[in-house]
Amino acid sequence: MNPEPIFDVAHLAHVELLTPKLEESVQFFVDVMGMIESGQKGDSVYLRGWDDYEHHSLQLTASAKPGIGHYAVRASSPQALQRRVAALEKSGLGKGWNDENVGHGPGLRPALKNQASRTPNRGIALRRIDHINLLAADVRATRVFLQEVLGGKMTEQIIFDDGSEKASWITFTNKTYDVAISEDWTGSKGRLHHITYAVDSREDVLRAADICLEHKVFMETGPSKHAIQQTFFLYVYEPGGNRFEIACPGARLVLAPDWQPVIWSEAERKKGQAWGLPTIPSFHTHGTPPVD
Ligand SMILES: [Fe+2]
Repeated sequence: MNPEPIFDVAHLAHVELLTPKLEESVQFFVDVMGMIESGQKGDSVYLRGWDDYEHHSLQLTASAKPGIGHYAVRASSPQALQRRVAALEKSGLGKGWNDENVGHGPGLRPALKNQASRTPNRGIALRRIDHINLLAADVRATRVFLQEVLGGKMTEQIIFDDGSEKASWITFTNKTYDVAISEDWTGSKGRLHHITYAVDSREDVLRAADICLEHKVFMETGPSKHAIQQTFFLYVYEPGGNRFEIACPGARLVLAPDWQPVIWSEAERKKGQAWGLPTIPSFHTHGTPPVD
């Protein structure tokens, strides 16, 4: 079910989130989520969690509609990048280079030198980017692209009784997923389900819910625990309308090189989340940009 591991992709690097309310979205991610602003250019503001080591993991870009501009994965070496570029070109799915011209800035020096930045005493203080959940018109095609062209490994999957692939989870690392792909019920391409940042503990997720309550942030569902991947989650909407998840990912790691994907059936999916919380209906209807 998985091609030979190649490890050319190191990890999920950053996500460009589109927002019709740039100022409010920036305020939300800086003041409420406690992220660090690392730069601005044109219509974009760049942010990172305090333990994201790169210049930014989130790029907010002003746009008429919410949604995702692009997401980026980091190659594990210049040679790995060349190999993946060649594979992309061979697949016919490449679109050419996009040279973002935003450089690295000096960090906020932490007390411990093995940490990317000082922890901000502000809001939820998200630690790092964890994963992105894409909506796809064709889950299988998107999943196979991530496996065969980028070298991702599938760890879990939802297959309904009619054989249709409803969702798949892909990792480039030892954590259980970096990219999730869910079926877009509208059949549209290129929409976003959510992006997710990690905090250290379940207690941090509960505290995040209290902070969101104080700031009148709309909380869609949680805190609770997913059955699939076992992530402890809280889902909110940021001011631009995009769904955003604050999570304590499960501590398990995928170490087996011959890992066989865990497959969830239609009946198992209907049981809802790990502790019986029903999956909220808006999970199947809200994506960005909205469909007219
Ligand atoms: Fe998620």
